[in-house]
Amino acid sequence: MPSYSTLGLIPPKRHTQFRKPDGGLYHEEVFGTEGFSGVYSILYHHNPPTKITRMEKLADLSIDPWDLSEHRHHHIKTRDLEEGKDPIESRKLLLYNGDVSISVCRPKEPMNYFFRNAEADELYFVHEGGGELHSIFGVITFDKGDYLLVPRGTTYRLVVSGYPSRFMVIESPGAIETPKRYRNEYGQLLEHSPFCERDIKRPSRLEIFTETGDFEVRVKIGKSLMAYHFSHHPLDVVGWDGYLYPWALNIADFEPITGRIHQPPPVHQTFEAQGLMVLSFVPRKLDYHPLAVPVPYYHSNIDSDEMLYYVSSQFMSRKGIELGSITVHRRGIHHGPQPGVVESSLGKESTNEYAIMVEAYKPLNLTKIAQRYDDPSYPFSWIEAGKS
Ligand SMILES: [Fe+2]
Repeated sequence: MPSYSTLGLIPPKRHTQFRKPDGGLYHEEVFGTEGFSGVYSILYHHNPPTKITRMEKLADLSIDPWDLSEHRHHHIKTRDLEEGKDPIESRKLLLYNGDVSISVCRPKEPMNYFFRNAEADELYFVHEGGGELHSIFGVITFDKGDYLLVPRGTTYRLVVSGYPSRFMVIESPGAIETPKRYRNEYGQLLEHSPFCERDIKRPSRLEIFTETGDFEVRVKIGKSLMAYHFSHHPLDVVGWDGYLYPWALNIADFEPITGRIHQPPPVHQTFEAQGLMVLSFVPRKLDYHPLAVPVPYYHSNIDSDEMLYYVSSQFMSRKGIELGSITVHRRGIHHGPQPGVVESSLGKESTNEYAIMVEAYKPLNLTKIAQRYDDPSYPFSWIEAGKS
């Protein structure tokens, strides 16, 4: 919800008669959060969005936890993650707590249905591939490097056109928003924000489908995946306006904040939600104090778990990572630059790294799927080769 936006046809006043060319009424929907007190948009449908013809429970979405006996750091290697079906079915849940779920997927099949997450905002990171998000708000073209934010309750379909494709998906039951400290009292992004409204891609084209048939909308709710069937196409909106809609931001448009000495991770913050923040590490000039040490401190995350998703195989403070690697650094035990990295960083003027961090304030749990890709030797990767 970066700012007010509108697309298509809307009547001059909300909650007034808005008629189709044939004289019938359009069907008005308010799409709002926090009951009727939060941000919202108002949409105008050809058909009532309530006209379900049948429904069924498709799947149980219970999580299969990895019952870990030890508290340690992790390196989950997803580079060779097997390709799956469509962008929803191929998701592999790796990490979760009450505030966030983190999945990865490599879809290779199209979605022949529509999807709606009924209880979490979804933030895709498009690591590889591209395509279009088709939703009730219109079409957003997305590309490699895009964050794609889909508010909960949005009916949509991802049409992937670039293969191979690879996404990292963050789901949050709390609203995913731009950091509050970068917004003024009117919601506008401030001048020192690392990105601004010009960087944001909104739905730019409204496709209005009026055909009839059998259309399936799969809805993720609780531990269930439900299927609801309609006799009309769910993307039948002729116009909308408001503050709540999907949008995208490319990680390359995140302007890094740099300094004479090391800047702490919050300068990389891109999004926030209840219990977490999302940060973007992007190519940047390194610290320019003549005696600067450009890599981070050793630290033990006193009150958070820290997950890093590596977009490329290069990262300043870490050796041995691959494209798609995920490190999970646990609270209470230290991590930091690996052997030799401090010395090799001295005098470096820039870095080309791309990585995404999720800092979670509640402990992150791992799934049995994460266990399959976990490298158990990672906690010992701070030992110099040949030494103990
Ligand atoms: Fe860290």
